[in-house]
Amino acid sequence: MNDLSAPKPVEPNPQYATTADTNHPAVGVLRQVLAALYGSNPQFDAWFHTLTQHLDLLRQARPAALRALDAARIQDPQWFTHQSMIGYCAYVDRFAGDLRGVHDRIAHLESLGVRYLHLLPFSKPRAGENDGGFAIADYDAVREDLGTMADFEALASALRARQISVCFDFVLNHVADDHAWARAAQAGDAKAQSYFYTFDDRTLPDQYEKTVGQVFPETAPGNFTWNAAMGKWVWTTFYPYQWDLNYRNPMVFAEIAYTLVRLANHGVEVFRLDSAPFLWKELGTTCLNLPETHLVLQALRAVLAWAAPAVLVKSEAIVPAAQAAAYLGASRPGEPEKCQLAYHGALMAASWVACVERDTSVLRSVIRDTPKPPVHSSWVTYVRCHDDIVWSMLRPQIAQLGGSYEQRMSAVTQYLCGNHPESFARGIPFQTSGNPNAVHGTNGMAASLLGYELPDGHPQRAFALQRFTLMHALAYAFGGMPVLYMGDEFAQTNDYSEAARAATAIDGRWLHRPRWDGERAAQAARPGTTAHAACEVLRRLGRVRAATPAFAAHANPAQIIDLPDAALLVFARGPDHVCVFNFSDQERVFSLSDVGNTRGRQVTDLWTDRAAGSTHMLAPWTFAWLAYTSA
Ligand code: GLC
Repeated sequence: MNDLSAPKPVEPNPQYATTADTNHPAVGVLRQVLAALYGSNPQFDAWFHTLTQHLDLLRQARPAALRALDAARIQDPQWFTHQSMIGYCAYVDRFAGDLRGVHDRIAHLESLGVRYLHLLPFSKPRAGENDGGFAIADYDAVREDLGTMADFEALASALRARQISVCFDFVLNHVADDHAWARAAQAGDAKAQSYFYTFDDRTLPDQYEKTVGQVFPETAPGNFTWNAAMGKWVWTTFYPYQWDLNYRNPMVFAEIAYTLVRLANHGVEVFRLDSAPFLWKELGTTCLNLPETHLVLQALRAVLAWAAPAVLVKSEAIVPAAQAAAYLGASRPGEPEKCQLAYHGALMAASWVACVERDTSVLRSVIRDTPKPPVHSSWVTYVRCHDDIVWSMLRPQIAQLGGSYEQRMSAVTQYLCGNHPESFARGIPFQTSGNPNAVHGTNGMAASLLGYELPDGHPQRAFALQRFTLMHALAYAFGGMPVLYMGDEFAQTNDYSEAARAATAIDGRWLHRPRWDGERAAQAARPGTTAHAACEVLRRLGRVRAATPAFAAHANPAQIIDLPDAALLVFARGPDHVCVFNFSDQERVFSLSDVGNTRGRQVTDLWTDRAAGSTHMLAPWTFAWLAYTSA
């Protein structure tokens, strides 16, 4: 039986081999954080020594080109908060066939101003169903039909040469039931079983279930799965074949830390830490966002700060704004750093609510409740992604505004699913157990949710492009790195292919995971087409943003300016920039002096590139990016 704790052999790079450099400040941080998690274990010191020795070998094995990147990024720790940073998220196979195919899409990405490419998981997945690659059988191998690790290295370096940073989806909360650790556990290896949360009977699972929520209540109810081979229950937050790792076991932390650095040494520049809030479990809690979860993230950040300092971590915490903010940077001076990047899911979800309600109150409230990101950190803003739109992120704001969350959100989701006579949207509900009023999540491509599926001539069809532009303009101006979702640049609608229908029957998110549509991509070069219009909008948004330092993630955060008109969202980005968004079917007029200081200043709308008069008219579903300059 393999010794699971034995580190994989590393070839030190002789050019850099030195004696173990454990005096680095990050090692001190790592020790402090890990002592808080595991210090009560009498073997902590010995374990920590082995951990750092092995990490040091990996550190020394880091290739020269990546060391050069480390040095450059240490000099410019704010690089990813620049206003020119735009991201793109894609499945390798759906976007480009395989890793080699991605090279052929680089020019397209560049045309959109993309400088960060998030590839959804491409590691070797579980055989059979695998939650879109989120059930990993081997972190160190690439899914066979997508290529090899050498292909990934070549791609990462080609992207780096074009100033595009590659983001790797690191699924660290769970592994597949056919990962070596899970296989050993099923073969009866007690040590391997200790990598997971296993239970002989339902006593503890039943107690946990009292306070733990459900991610897939319809297709994977409950958080525990009976495994006949082990004769035990195992913790499975997501699908039954995704086994949650037990971070109470320091060996799990060590294995994950080694894996992280090995992958970083292949050229990863950003890690998306999948399902970050779930990493630690504690009886009697929701097992979400626990303090120990934050310690694990701080420790992983310290590992990278030492062994691969160019590399960033991004938390995938699809939780309310205040909780998501807790994943960013350090909240107090002297506190160890957490992630540099975090999704602002609540902003995204609230922008959909505003679209449906023609009322920006939830959106304003989310923005008000969004803490300023700590220095050297940034939000990730977006309109759509590969997952459903999760509504629970808005609970705190809807509670503040009064009224029933269920009622308000069920009206929104019904609308987005086309169940309203005037609805422009064509989404489907996700995980609602057949209850039309349940509000778990909503699926659909941005274009389908924004009116692109309506027949020509329908009054709302005419507004689809404006709505598409408005939603992206918000993500581009809010403050953070906007990340585009594949296909959105061509206004691709829901995937109604046979294959997608079959996949959607099992998991509704396949509705919005389309393949690269060659025809649409070709259309994008032809003015007058839907694809061309959408692509041009995104290109222009990117250009204007890149030329506007006030829109950088590190610049002044969005400050709400309250106008009585509920359909208008207004925020300032510092003293000289004001963004106004009209979430309604009607024209709106407002006075420039109501939203900024006009005295002695002239105002230009950066989007239309026109001077603004003392009152400004916004057509339905349009926006203005106003710049105030001394006259
Ligand atoms: C994340 C992914 C999602 C996946 C889940 C379990 O939320 O974005 O697609 O189902 O994690 O890995």
